[in-house]
Amino acid sequence: MRTLMLEASSFADIELAAQLLRAGELVAIPTETVYGLAANALDEAAVAKIFAAKGRPQDNPLIVHVYDREQAQSLVKAWPFTAQRLAEAFWPGPLTFILQREERVPGIVSAGLSTLALRVPSHLAAQALLWAAGIPLAAPSANRSGSPSPTLASHVLDDLNGKIAAVLDAGPCAIGVESTVLDLTREIPLLLRPGGVSVEQLESVLGRRIELSPALAHALPTREAAPSPGMKYRHYAPRAQLTLVRGDLRSFFDYAVREKPDGLLVFGSDEISLNLPVLRYGDSPEEQARQLFARLREVDELGWRTVLVRCPPKEGLGLAVYNRLLRAASFREVG
Ligand code: TXA
Ligand code: MG
Repeated sequence: MRTLMLEASSFADIELAAQLLRAGELVAIPTETVYGLAANALDEAAVAKIFAAKGRPQDNPLIVHVYDREQAQSLVKAWPFTAQRLAEAFWPGPLTFILQREERVPGIVSAGLSTLALRVPSHLAAQALLWAAGIPLAAPSANRSGSPSPTLASHVLDDLNGKIAAVLDAGPCAIGVESTVLDLTREIPLLLRPGGVSVEQLESVLGRRIELSPALAHALPTREAAPSPGMKYRHYAPRAQLTLVRGDLRSFFDYAVREKPDGLLVFGSDEISLNLPVLRYGDSPEEQARQLFARLREVDELGWRTVLVRCPPKEGLGLAVYNRLLRAASFREVG
């Protein structure tokens, strides 16, 4: 199959992408977080193609993207008050709700779970496409299972060229890490994945604390509850072995001198006086989120086998950046 390159700025290309999706084909689409690999969520055979193209484990459920709140409500059995509050505050945007799945959504979308993950993306091309297609779109990140999520159309092609019908190119993704996944089927909302909407933002709108899944890991050892299926897989993983180094630049240097890694992944303005190759991933949490996945791809392109990484802060959007890095490092953290 030849993978078509489509332009999100072209109305004709959006219409073509919508036609392909209605016909049961796979199209990679831009969102504000990362590129998604979309298929008609109500077409079981189309959704099965997503798992095949990505090499995704069959028990890892997908997020369904919808045009608005009304379409979201039509796919779930109940719409709790917390969903209403959070949708008013954060939709369209990088927040995914877990709710009880309505039967007309095929079980394959949720890998057989009785629940469904839903979000309304804020990216204008994604909205235009959802409107033009007129169907809900199941879309995991458009990478090969296990590799870093794509934040450029070229990342999608690197992983999936020839396996999907088209890529709708809209340039770099504005946020750069995936959506926050929040389980709303419980009395107290449970954070399954930190992402584009921060814990602080969620708690401020809800006026109460939320719970953090212990599967977020060693990072957050004190809280407890059940994990999301996706969490058991090694995600965002470059081939290189990453080690996160906590603490200041001085202790980072000390560690680097001792370990002699192939390369360093540091903040944008760190002054590095060591004779080692360096990649940078920004200073603010927003810059770091935007740049992280592209840098992880570069680490592999450069053939680095061992990499020391400056540990980001864990507040706000930083928690999502930290979570992706910790998983890329298979939880190796020192300092
Ligand atoms: O920003 C995003 O969320 C991107 C863009 C394309 O929207 N999508 C994305 O999808 O990151 P994916 O498949 O890479 O990650 C979905 C996560 C997985 O960890 C999965 O296990 C979890 O959401 N998930 C999906 N459905 C679930 C469910 N019913 N219950 C619990 N977790 C679920
Ligand atoms: Mg993914």
